[in-house]
Amino acid sequence: MKPFEIKKGIYWVGAVDWNARSFHGHTYTTQRGTTYNAYLIVDEKIALVDTVYGPFANEMIEKIRDIVPLEKIDYVIANHVETDHSGALPELMKLCPKAKVVGTAKCKEGLYKHYYGNWDFQVVKTGDSIKLGKRTLSFVEAPMIHWPDSMFTYCPEEKLLLPNDAFGQHYATSERFDDGVDQSVLMDEATKYYANILWPLGSMILRKLEEVMKMGIPIDMIAPSHGIIWRKDPMKIVNAYLSWAKNEHAKKVVIIYETMWGATAKMARAIAEGITDSGVSVKLFDINQSDKTEVISQMLGARGYLIGSSTHDNCMLPSIAGFLELLKGLKPKGRSAAAFGSYGWAGGAVNSIEDILKVAGLSIALAPISFKYVPDQNEMKKCYDYGKEFAAKL
Ligand code: FEO
Repeated sequence: MKPFEIKKGIYWVGAVDWNARSFHGHTYTTQRGTTYNAYLIVDEKIALVDTVYGPFANEMIEKIRDIVPLEKIDYVIANHVETDHSGALPELMKLCPKAKVVGTAKCKEGLYKHYYGNWDFQVVKTGDSIKLGKRTLSFVEAPMIHWPDSMFTYCPEEKLLLPNDAFGQHYATSERFDDGVDQSVLMDEATKYYANILWPLGSMILRKLEEVMKMGIPIDMIAPSHGIIWRKDPMKIVNAYLSWAKNEHAKKVVIIYETMWGATAKMARAIAEGITDSGVSVKLFDINQSDKTEVISQMLGARGYLIGSSTHDNCMLPSIAGFLELLKGLKPKGRSAAAFGSYGWAGGAVNSIEDILKVAGLSIALAPISFKYVPDQNEMKKCYDYGKEFAAKL
């Protein structure tokens, strides 16, 4: 793939990772692959904003070579330390040793602790800027969007925001702009990205977005470091972030369970029926048959969660335990939850589930419901009523 001019003199020089199927270890499944976006700004001075993941360094370097000799790069703006954006730095800096690396103080510290390079580093903070010629690059520190080192770069002359991880999506495509792709796929991937990566950082995201909006800076293009560039309607994704960061969600329930011989699954279906008959939308996931990244994406828009497991050795089953560990880290705010499940001779799973739901910050809407072995007709009716009661609590 060639470099792609996104505005006159500004080029996408990133890489499309068509085959990426997992991210952040295996916490995130990237069914549609991903991209690592780097942008070259050619003016009297030349700046590269972000790089790419290390295995794609040569792809980026060749794209830059198509436009300018590498040694002509004056600045490498490092918006974020994480290796998917900085992994190509060591290779790149060998080819442009005189370039100045620009980032926050935490970025300087983080890059050193990753690569131990003795690069000329210019520390910047909110309000600082660099003049390239006709264009200026201004910087806004954006700690915890996504790491403490993160910052946004803004070019006022081009009304171009380069916010690194914010507003990104794991979405590999030959298109570079939002107007070239299916809108529902794009928003689906943007939602998944926010839910699985940025959800626990919502209060900081909200503060930062409000701060940037108060600055009143005009934006006609948002070019994130993953996926598609927003130019058709950049406010669409900004408004979606505002809504997610404010914890806005629908009267909807997500049920997630793991079952050993099917009894907990039966309970899940009866509970779901009670919720449905209450006029509340419900989604049901057997965790062993489901993509956890998609489940979390569905949870972002839901008000209630029901978590079920059979009891095994007085504990919950291991797949649901792993999923709850993810949920604990996401710390969903303003949602209600409850636990359910079957057991043999001694229970235990529902209490362990409820403990974790509390640690995750969820409010417990109902005491757990649990039945011995396979629920009979009367117990199935109790599950149905439990669903109705849970729906009424939302
Ligand atoms: Fe895409 Fe936080 O790195």
